[in-house]
Amino acid sequence: MTEPATGPAAAPITFVGGKGGVGKTTLAAAHALALADAGHRVLVVSTDPAHSLGDALEAPLKDEPVQVAPNLWAAEPDADAAVRRRIAQVAEDARKAVPREVLPAVRRHLEQAGASPGMAESALADLLVDRMEEVGRRWDALVVDSAPTGHLLRLLNLPTLLTPWIVGLTRQRERARRAEAFADVVGDSAEEDDPLTERLHARRHRLERAAERLRRDAVVRLVTLPRRMVLAETARAVEQLTGAGFRLAPVVVNQIPPEAAAGPDTAEALAATRERFAALGTVEVPLQDAEPTGPDRLRSLAALLVPR
Ligand SMILES: Nc1ncnc2c1ncn2[C@@H]1O[C@H](COP(=O)(O)OP(=O)(O)OP(=O)(O)O)[C@@H](O)[C@H]1O
Ligand SMILES: [Mg+2]
Repeated sequence: MTEPATGPAAAPITFVGGKGGVGKTTLAAAHALALADAGHRVLVVSTDPAHSLGDALEAPLKDEPVQVAPNLWAAEPDADAAVRRRIAQVAEDARKAVPREVLPAVRRHLEQAGASPGMAESALADLLVDRMEEVGRRWDALVVDSAPTGHLLRLLNLPTLLTPWIVGLTRQRERARRAEAFADVVGDSAEEDDPLTERLHARRHRLERAAERLRRDAVVRLVTLPRRMVLAETARAVEQLTGAGFRLAPVVVNQIPPEAAAGPDTAEALAATRERFAALGTVEVPLQDAEPTGPDRLRSLAALLVPR
C-alpha cells in the first residue's frame, strides 16, 4: 500500500482502467511522464480507437512509438491494420491446415470475423503481447491507456482459449499428412518438419508467458470518481481483477471538487470510496481548473499521484 506511485519499485507494466470519461487517458499520460522524469525509458500506448492520448500529451502520435519527451515514447496503434495482420495470419494458418475445398468457406468466415469485436480484441492482444515482450529490452516500463476490465481478464485466459484451436488444427494437420504419406509411395513427406504446428505451439507458449508476466509484472491502476455509481463499478472491477490474479495499484479518485463546491452526495461518495478501498489505498486527484493536457499540466497532476 505504501509503494510509491512512480519510484523504481513501480511495476514495469501498468494498465490504466476505469469507467468512461473518468480520466484514464490523462492519468496514463501523467503516470508515464512521471516515470520518464524519474529516469525510466517509458512507452505509453493507447488501446482506445478514439485515440485521445495524443491530445492529452499534445503531440501527434502514430502506429509506431514516437518520442514525445525525454525518456518517453508514445503510440496509438492502428487497430484496423492490426486486424488485417491478424486475419492474414489466420488465413495463412488455415491454408496450411485445412483441405483445399474448404478454403473458400474459411475465407468468407474470416472476412466476416474481421468486422467482429472479437477479432479486434484478439489483434489488440497480439499487439500488447508484442509491446510487453519489449519491456526489459527496449523499455523499462510500459503504460497502457485504458484496458477494459473484460479485456484484461481475457488476456490471462488467451492461452487456454487457444488450446482447442491448436489441438484441432494439429489434428487436421496430422490427418492431412497421413493422407499425403499414403498418396506418396516414396512416403517421406511425413518426416518433414511441420512448421505450422510448431508455430501454433510457439504462439501458445508466447501467450502463456505473457499471462505469467501479467500476473508477475503488471499492475492495474483503476481510476474512479467520487460518485456512488462509479464506486460500485470500480468495486466490481477490483473484485474481478484480483480474483483473476492481477495486482492492483492504489485506486485513483479523480476530479475531486474543492470542499466548498462539493455537495453532500460527493462528500458521502468520497468517504465511501476511501473506506471501500482502504486496503488497496487511494490516491486523490483534485478537479483542475484547466483541462490537464500537455507535459507541464500533466506533470503537476502526476505530482499528486502519491498514495494516501
Ligand atoms: N483531475 C482533472 N481535473 C480536470 N479535468 C480532468 C481531470 N482529469 C481528467 N480531466 C479531463 O476530463 C476529460 C476526460 O478525461 P480522459 O479523456 O482522460 O478520460 P478517459 O477515462 O480516458 O475517457 P474515455 O473513457 O472517453 O477514454 C478530459 O477533458 C480531461 O482533460
Ligand atoms: Mg481515454
